[in-house]
Amino acid sequence: MKLNIALIGYKFMGKAHSFGIDAAPFFFKDGIEPVKKVICGRTEHLVKQAAEDFGWEEYCTDWRDVINREDIDIVDIATPTINHKEIALAAIKAGKHVFCEKPLSMNAQESKEMMEEAEKAGVINMLGHNYRRCPAAALAKKMIAENKLGKIYHVRAVYLQDWIMDPAFPAIWKLNKDIAGSGPHGDLNAHIIDLARFMTGDEIDEVVGMKETFIKKRPSPVVERELSSMLKADGSNDEVEMIDVTVEDACSFLAKFKSGSLGTFEATRFAGGRKNYNRIEINGEKGTLIFEFEDMNRLQYWNAEDPQEVQGFKSIMVTEDCHPYIANWWPPGHIIGYENTFVNEFADFFRAIKENKQVTPNFYDGWKGNQVLDAVLKSTETRTWQKVDEM
Ligand SMILES: NC(=O)c1ccc[n+]([C@@H]2O[C@H](COP(=O)([O-])OP(=O)(O)OC[C@H]3O[C@@H](n4cnc5c(N)ncnc54)[C@H](O)[C@@H]3O)[C@@H](O)[C@H]2O)c1
Repeated sequence: MKLNIALIGYKFMGKAHSFGIDAAPFFFKDGIEPVKKVICGRTEHLVKQAAEDFGWEEYCTDWRDVINREDIDIVDIATPTINHKEIALAAIKAGKHVFCEKPLSMNAQESKEMMEEAEKAGVINMLGHNYRRCPAAALAKKMIAENKLGKIYHVRAVYLQDWIMDPAFPAIWKLNKDIAGSGPHGDLNAHIIDLARFMTGDEIDEVVGMKETFIKKRPSPVVERELSSMLKADGSNDEVEMIDVTVEDACSFLAKFKSGSLGTFEATRFAGGRKNYNRIEINGEKGTLIFEFEDMNRLQYWNAEDPQEVQGFKSIMVTEDCHPYIANWWPPGHIIGYENTFVNEFADFFRAIKENKQVTPNFYDGWKGNQVLDAVLKSTETRTWQKVDEM
């Protein structure tokens, strides 16, 4: 089955998706032939270069030009959050299957509309929470579903980075509320909220959060490199325009799940030394599981039923044929990496289209995730607990 794809956005996720699309049919022999038809961006010479680098047949500079093309089956959205809704709704209206990066949209209201339109149109829709596609994360979900942990007491999740600690780092779109919606909250908490929902099968009932912007003004992103190297310690420079940072730099929250489990979540871009420290620990009555993305081929497991004299954490190498996705990869111990999560993700998406079966996470999960994100932001304003279902 041939599937022609239009990819909107060609930078970080554009590159990751291009790789995942290419490698999916190599590792997953599902009889699907994805075709990298057209890649879209706003700046002609850059998108032309991306088309060459990533092997797309054509390029264009306005996403509207590809949406109604008869030869396009899939619209893949890898642009900033502000564009997701408009592009997705247009694609759904044109009957295309849609893959969209996370967070699904700027807020729960937008995401609900996207979900409803996708469901009405009957198109396959998928949301880019690639960490679900780490075999170790999928094994954690399976073990919890098999009741290996019993009743869940705690979900303890952090997603820590440090890439904007330098005050001279410019105010790119990810630091602009009107484009990104929020900072590490929508960027990183979105992922760990999704992992918590995925692994436990539970929903968050209510939340209370706090957030802070540590560096409130930064150089404009259009500043030339030479100028930014002349910035003073506080990031200012007489020749450089300083603009407001309109998102938080860090956001943490407490969560009560519907089952009664307690959760803590922390996302920051100011955890010095932490690069992509995405870690979730789940404590249950019969055991504990820990998934840490930077050691993604392993799942840590403590089993309360082990004899006391040998109790302790074991580190499961999730590279056996019996583990999720691994039968399509390498022999035991031949580990996989970040890019391979996108391969697993696109293989699942393509198979869903072929079999006309909905895949997860999809726009429903995007809406549920946005509800939690919105509830946390609201609670930071009201300084009270906020029910998620009210969002
Ligand atoms: N799944 C993950 O692990 C992960 C990681 C990073 C980012 N993301 C998500 O992916 C999305 C993109 O983030 P990114 O890091 O790739 O950003 P990026 O800045 O690296 O790339 C954004 C791309 O969108 C393009 N673009 C912007 N506006 C456009 C428009 N109007 N029309 C066409 N193209 C447009 C830009 O030219 C650029 O190519 C965001 O939703 C982000 O949250 C997901």
